[in-house]
Amino acid sequence: MKIETKIILGTAMFFAILLMVGWVVIKEESRMAEFTTQFEGRSLERGATVFESNCSTCHGRQGQGSGRAPALNNPRLFNGERLAEMKWAGGLFDYIENAIAAGRPNSGAYWPEAMPTWGQTYGGPLRPDQIQDLTRFVMNWESSALDEANPPTVNQDFILPGIREEGDLQIMASGAPVGTAVTFGDLPAGDPARGETLYTSNELGCSSCHLGGVVAPNTVGTAERAAQRVASDPALAGYTLEQYLVESILQPNIYIVPNEGSAVYSAGGISIMQQNYSDRIDAQDLADLVAYLLGQ
Ligand code: HEC
Ligand code: HEC
Repeated sequence: MKIETKIILGTAMFFAILLMVGWVVIKEESRMAEFTTQFEGRSLERGATVFESNCSTCHGRQGQGSGRAPALNNPRLFNGERLAEMKWAGGLFDYIENAIAAGRPNSGAYWPEAMPTWGQTYGGPLRPDQIQDLTRFVMNWESSALDEANPPTVNQDFILPGIREEGDLQIMASGAPVGTAVTFGDLPAGDPARGETLYTSNELGCSSCHLGGVVAPNTVGTAERAAQRVASDPALAGYTLEQYLVESILQPNIYIVPNEGSAVYSAGGISIMQQNYSDRIDAQDLADLVAYLLGQ
């Protein structure tokens, strides 16, 4: 064979081998990417199942939140605002993973029940891989949460966690900034019929506790009892009836109705009544509820 032919053949083989190696590398990369996608897809599916059975009752099936827990499809979780207000220096994945694993044992003073501890590391029921599946599932709301053209339904915003004492109750009534004191006396005119509808609605759930007087003081006679309390309890000196009702609804811990008979209305100075109605109703709702209760 001529030396030129050998060189040409050699060069051709060199390029052929290069092509083959390149091909294998490319295939392998896409194979790996496919593998990762499949892995994450399965993890998401498992996360969805665990979420449905353990989390949706409080956070809503679409993560939209409820009176029991904040929304997790909230744009504020994904745009950095929540991490900033929680002074979290790490990434979002770690933040969510940590919140799920550790829970928020001190959040029960504001919410009806505290965010449970889920991670086995913290004494909860779920394995680390299940916590990761859940975290991926929550993270997956990012694109829909940040879709400005089609914003998600957020029923309940986040609050800052912590036990609420009388003085540091965060009042966010009617969109007022955190820390604004509730003002009495300037409520719009109330409509008792609308108040009754609100009071008995599933959304606010007032009557579900107050009906019959076992879980909470009976709806019937509320105004009469309130008048007696205001007249006879020195802690309520100078209160108007309306002011007492407003405060009972927005800041239940300031004046706690003493336990009656076998009924336990509070524990450790904290009423079992939700502490978050100031976020959930506006001034008109409040006026209507008060008008309804004044007729009881
Ligand atoms: C009993 C009701 C309840 C259940 C069940 C529940 N949560 Fe929560 N969750 C809460 C409450 C209340 C908060 C707010 C805590 C706070 O304000 O400090 C919260 C907060 C969170 C947060 C942190 C959000 C933030 O920035 O404050 C995440 C993430 C979360 N929950 C995920 C889950 C997941 C996942 C599950 C299911 C494994 C779950 N939760 C089950 C009540 C619940
Ligand atoms: C989880 C149960 C629960 C729910 C839901 C609830 N409450 Fe209460 N409420 C209580 C308990 C317990 C008390 C007594 C302890 C206290 O003073 O907070 C109370 C006290 C009150 C009082 C003072 C009653 C009195 O006899 O002096 C008023 C008024 C009141 N609630 C109105 C409402 C309204 C309006 C709603 C709905 C927007 C509501 N509550 C939802 C449990 C509940």
